[in-house]
Amino acid sequence: MKVIIVKDYQTASEVAATEMLAVVKNNPKAVLGLATGSTPVGMYNLMVKDHEMNGTDYSTIETYNLDEYLNLPMNHLDQSYRHFMDVNLFNHLNINKENTHVPEGFGDANEACVAYDTKLAEIGGVDIQVLGIGSNGHIAFNEPGVPFELGTHVVTLDEQTRQDNARFFDSIDEVPTHAITMGIKSIKSAKKIILIATGSNKADAVYGMIEGEVTVDLPASALQDHENVVVILDEAAASKLTK
Ligand code: F6R
Repeated sequence: MKVIIVKDYQTASEVAATEMLAVVKNNPKAVLGLATGSTPVGMYNLMVKDHEMNGTDYSTIETYNLDEYLNLPMNHLDQSYRHFMDVNLFNHLNINKENTHVPEGFGDANEACVAYDTKLAEIGGVDIQVLGIGSNGHIAFNEPGVPFELGTHVVTLDEQTRQDNARFFDSIDEVPTHAITMGIKSIKSAKKIILIATGSNKADAVYGMIEGEVTVDLPASALQDHENVVVILDEAAASKLTK
């Protein structure tokens, strides 16, 4: 793992955007693996700014997102990860929406998982995958304990995760109980991975991911044996590293 430590969130977003733009500019048909959550928003803003200023072309770029809620209530479709991606990135680029893939959150979930992995296998893995990390070391919706061998699969959301997300809904009962997520195996099929972590609440997870043993108890530790991972940290998230 290559570890880059910078002073703050804005600088981490700049480093991450530089990595993404290098791939996009080098290959008009690049396939990007994307994430939701608060972490990549700064990077997405910079990609939008670059597109507006420099006209970077996304017309033949393809994207795959990590995860999606299952069966969101119809009055809360604005909480879907598809909506998040449209608002934070896709609506501001000249990307063909048909080339943007987010797991299907309605209908037969198991069929959706197989379809997603089939597409990922066809393209031979994304060219670059952006990841955030949970304070418990999760990546995508792969919570502690999940086997590393899983491809895209259905997960039952942790009670804690549902409580954390309840603020976006009218009540906890409306928070979905299930989601679709790319598995660790699907994530590791990426040719390159960039993981961004900022803030002191990520410091324990970052330590475990980089210096701890490889264990299902800390899903991000599975990245240790991937040959092309760049971890971008601010000083707070790096504060527990010893080496
Ligand atoms: C997002 C995702 C999650 C987040 C993680 C960190 O698609 O799969 O694993 O990356 O929960 O979330 P934030 O960035 O909000 O701290």
